[in-house]
Amino acid sequence: MEKMKVRSVFVVGAGFMGSGIAQVCAQAGVQVLLYDTNREVLEGAKTKIGWSLNKLSEKGKIEETPQQVLDRIKTATDLNPCKGTDLVIEAVFEDIELKKSLFREIDSIAPPPTMIASNTSSIPITELASVTESPERVLGLHFFSPVPLNQAVEVIKGMRTSEEVFLAGRDFVRQICKEPIMVSRDVEGFVLNRINLPSIIEAIRVVEEGIATVEDIDKGLRLAFGRPMGIFETSDMVGLDVTYGALMSMYRSTGDPRWYPPLLMRRMVKAGYLGKKTLKGWYEYNPDGSRKER
Ligand SMILES: NC(=O)c1ccc[n+]([C@@H]2O[C@H](COP(=O)([O-])OP(=O)(O)OC[C@H]3O[C@@H](n4cnc5c(N)ncnc54)[C@H](O)[C@@H]3O)[C@@H](O)[C@H]2O)c1
Repeated sequence: MEKMKVRSVFVVGAGFMGSGIAQVCAQAGVQVLLYDTNREVLEGAKTKIGWSLNKLSEKGKIEETPQQVLDRIKTATDLNPCKGTDLVIEAVFEDIELKKSLFREIDSIAPPPTMIASNTSSIPITELASVTESPERVLGLHFFSPVPLNQAVEVIKGMRTSEEVFLAGRDFVRQICKEPIMVSRDVEGFVLNRINLPSIIEAIRVVEEGIATVEDIDKGLRLAFGRPMGIFETSDMVGLDVTYGALMSMYRSTGDPRWYPPLLMRRMVKAGYLGKKTLKGWYEYNPDGSRKER
């Protein structure tokens, strides 16, 4: 079969992940429509993308000017223009009912061959696909943060995703200069989180039990295992609420207590200590995003 090149992408949700996804697609020459219900979020997203592109340009990582890339990203507060795009990538809050209602709507607006992908961290693709009339065109494209710098993207096959769409997902990931990790069944946590989340849980328990500090665990993980960031540094960047949501959704769908978020994490999420975005998580931050010395 002839490889289909994706020329246009409609990104649903202009938050942390959606804006990163819009950026990397535009960097690869794809026309992007970035949709959010909140106009201020869209403006903020464009500012953040511009900042990131400037940084990449200063380091010589992009050939075009930041403005040339930015010009490929248009914004929308209306879902209708997703009709006729090659690919829709949904990146709204990790809320299954919200995602299902959007999938229903997108399915009714944009008929095949538009492919519909979700960036969900934990919701089964099969379940999202089940509310559409054409589940064979629904797949998972799971990006990792920070999207402009992280090369991995899991390509996830739901139970009814066609082989053709699964492979088109792989080709798209390559087209935007990322590396596909092929996941042939949409099991909870897919592959990388299934392996990574238990180590986050364990690290939190080590802190809870007073065995080591957050700083020392992060330092050890960086030095011993060559990780660019420690578990807690990454957790603050991702957002404790996001990881909490992923764990709860895995716990609910499997009934397996090993996924139940540790007490300290549950309390921090309740207290609103969500990481960088609230200036306090495992570490504390200044308004410019730099870390406060303890
Ligand atoms: N944060 C991470 O590191 C990470 C990594 C991989 C996957 N994910 C997944 O990506 C998705 C988004 O996460 P995020 O961290 O970007 O969240 P976020 O809170 O930064 O962004 C979510 C965005 O969705 C928008 N939104 C909400 N309802 C909407 C609607 N009905 N229509 C359009 N937009 C709507 C919000 O305005 C917000 O801008 C989640 O499914 C999450 O599990 C997150």
